[in-house]
Order: sequence, then C-alpha cells, then structure tokens
Amino acid sequence: MLYNEPSPLEVKVLTRRFGLENSASLDTYLATDGYTALRKALGMKPDEIIEQVKISNLRGRGGAGFPAGLKWGFVPRTSPKPKYVVVNADEGEPGTCKDRVLMEYDPHQLLEGMVIAGLAVGANTGYIYIRGEYRYLIEIMDRAIAEARGRGYLGKGILGGGFDFEAYTHTGAGSYECGEESALLESLEGKRGQPRIRPPFPAIAGAFQCPTVLNNVETFCAVPAIIRDGGAAFAALGTPKNGGTRLFAISGHVNKPGVYELPMGFNLLRMINEVAGGMRGGKKLKAVIPGGSSCPVLKAEECDVAMDFDSLAKARSMLGSGGVVVMDEDTCVVKATMRIMKFYAHESCGWCIPCREGTMWLEKLLVRFHDGMGRRTDIDLIGDVAKNMLGRTFCPLGDAAAMPTISFVEKFRDEFEAHLDGKPCPFERAGAMVVA
Ligand SMILES: Cc1cc2nc3c(=O)[nH]c(=O)nc-3n(C[C@H](O)[C@H](O)[C@H](O)COP(=O)(O)O)c2cc1C
Ligand code: SF4
Repeated sequence: MLYNEPSPLEVKVLTRRFGLENSASLDTYLATDGYTALRKALGMKPDEIIEQVKISNLRGRGGAGFPAGLKWGFVPRTSPKPKYVVVNADEGEPGTCKDRVLMEYDPHQLLEGMVIAGLAVGANTGYIYIRGEYRYLIEIMDRAIAEARGRGYLGKGILGGGFDFEAYTHTGAGSYECGEESALLESLEGKRGQPRIRPPFPAIAGAFQCPTVLNNVETFCAVPAIIRDGGAAFAALGTPKNGGTRLFAISGHVNKPGVYELPMGFNLLRMINEVAGGMRGGKKLKAVIPGGSSCPVLKAEECDVAMDFDSLAKARSMLGSGGVVVMDEDTCVVKATMRIMKFYAHESCGWCIPCREGTMWLEKLLVRFHDGMGRRTDIDLIGDVAKNMLGRTFCPLGDAAAMPTISFVEKFRDEFEAHLDGKPCPFERAGAMVVA
C-alpha cells in the first residue's frame, strides 16, 4: 500500500511503478521496461553515458544540487586503483522521506542506476549506505540484489557480457552527520563518522581512498530513465539547468501530506493548494521551509516561487533535499526554530568549536526564549551566534544549523518580540497548533 494517494498533477518518471502489484519484484520491473537502460548502456562507450547524464541536466538530489554528469566526469578512469559507486541512502534531513519510498517500491531502479554508473566510471563494486532507522529497507534491497544477481543483472559477466558489478548494503547507526559524504565514507570504512579534509573530493579519493562516484538515491534512480529515453527528454521535463522531475516530500499543515513527483520548477503555492490538498482546516499559510530543515524559511508572501535550485537560490533559500515543511498561522515560529536547533545540537559531531558550541548555545538561548525568559538583546544574540557559525565550520552542518535560524529571526522578529517580558508563548496560550 502506498503511503499517500498520488496526485493527477504528478509527472511519474521515477515513481511510475509505485502502486503496481509487487512493484519491488524483478518480474514487475522487467515487465515495465526494467533493465532496458542497462542493456542499452552496455552497448555505449563510458563517455557517451556521461554525456547523456550531462545533457539531462540532472543535479544531485541529496541537497547541494551539483550536476551529476560533471561529477561522474571527474573520476579518473585510467587510475589503476579500483573504483567504487556509493549510494547515499542516509536520508537524515528533517522533512525528507523520498529515498525511503524509492527503495521500498522500486529497488531495482536504484540497482540499475548504480550498474550504469559503474559502467560509466569503470567501477565494479557499489555500496548502498542506508540509515540505521531504515533497517527494513536493508531486507528489501538485499532481496532485490539477490534477485538481480540470480538473473544476471548483477555479478560476473552482466547479461552475458564482460562487465562485472557487485552491490552491497551497509547500515548506518542513525547519525545525521553520516549523510555528509566524507563522513559517510569514513563510516562505510568502519571508522568514526567524522568528515574528511577536502580536497581531495570523493571522485579522486573516496571509498578506501579510491575514485568514487557518490550520489543520492534519487540521483541514481533518475539514471535508467535518462539512458532509456535520452538525456534531452529528461532535461525537457524541468527548467533550464534543472532537468527532470523531483520527488517532493510535503509535510506539515496540509490536507494531503505525502511524497509527490513533480516537474522541476513546479510552483510552490500550487504544490500546497493543488497537489497537497490545501491548508488543513482552512487555516492561513504562515511559512514554508522548501527543502529540508537546513534551508532558510520562506514567508507566505514569498511562496509564489518555482521549485528548482536556481529559483530558490534567487529567493534566498534552497531546494535542498526536497522536504517541503508547511506551517500554518498557528505555528509558533520561535518553537519551530528551537525544535530545529535541538536537532542540530544533538547531531553535531562535536569536532569543530563553532558548530559544537554554537548549536549548543543556540539551543539554550531558544529554549530560554520560548519559555518566556528571553531578554530583548537575545534576539540579536541568536542571529549573531548563528552568523558567526556561517562558513566557519569544518563541514556544512554548521551552515545547516545557522541558515534557518538567521532567516527565522530576520523574517519573524515580531514573533520573537511577542515572547518577551515573561509572556508565555502566544500560540500555546491560544491552545492552537504548535510544532512539537
Ligand atoms: C550534515 C549533512 C548531512 C547530509 N545528509 C545527506 C543525506 O542524508 N543524503 C544525501 O543524499 N545527502 C546528504 N548530504 C549531502 C552529501 O554530502 C552529498 O552532497 C550528496 O550525497 C551527494 O549526492 P548528490 O550529488 O546526488 O546530491 C548531507 C550533507 C551534510 C553536510
Ligand atoms: S560542522 Fe564541525 S562539529 Fe559540526 S558536524 Fe561538521 S565537523 Fe562536526
């Protein structure tokens, strides 16, 4: 059973098998064009595969939106070292739950994308790093790997040719930081999940210090469609430089929360009102975090925006991991900021001081503030502490904590002021919905 009903406005490319009977099985996959892209790729040169991925304008779906074809092109194929494909299935960003459904309903699509990536860069081994909380997905992926190996889509001499590729699952232990690519690689190697000094980037020195293509689940899942139908067809679904569709996980105060596949550049207000069934209880929209908790918040009047990487950057926010968190008029913004900071303070790996101390002090300040014990000067102090973390931490987790905080304080100063002078939270006093 699907987690949510599909919307008629969806453009189903990566999710086209969702809802089919036994959608995760190899038979269903083969009956619906599965592994045809791999057959085609086996007849292509590596450069031709990479060229199609470049033409598709596929940008990484894990958060940063780096062009996938460009990244694959950085791998030195002539290096004598073994090469690796690594799937980032850590999915730790609050508000994001789209990789989960891609693996649950269509695991072979991910495997096919991995093997094609292996062909493109000359890798014979792939790892799927799955977050600890998604333990049940390990079984699904392991079953799919066994099925694919049994029928010649993985293993030695794939489809009777000369190319070998093995895939393995690997579980994380529930650490958000292990979704950061270099910390993920450390963890995959059995070490403590802390980030590496870069450069070199994973394309040059990734898993076991060997050249590695590391992408998000959704990024790899887009590859079979790109090779099957051509990069240009995929690019045409989206906006310039933002090819294809995107899985948006819409949560919060809407009538129909869920994961929806929509063309890149789909309007955010339409997404809320027409795809997600509008605001719950007919309430007014107050704010949206458009791409997971690390993205700057948009006020209601800023939400008439195209959901692609470049349009959101222009709106001074980010598309991030596609987790759209919708907040209605009864949401306490101070509490939302506090809740987000509790997460980052808990997840900071503690290695560098601005992040370790900054997230901890911001959490303390925000808790105190929300409890009505804040001082007027605390409003600027919260913004200042966050600004002093920005760009000064070892990995982007510090920025991820600072950016939403700065935006909430700047855009909702009046709500922070409403918590001053020992006043209880105005939203809780009204007995209204609050972000828990
Ligand atoms: C703290 C932190 C957590 C991250 N968590 C994830 C994650 O759970 N999944 C993911 O794909 N990328 C995550 N990223 C981004 C990865 O570092 C990396 O950019 C991404 O996996 C690359 O794949 P892509 O180019 O396909 O997006 C995270 C980054 C940071 C800084
Ligand atoms: S910013 Fe520093 S302390 Fe925070 S998670 Fe990254 S390395 Fe660790």
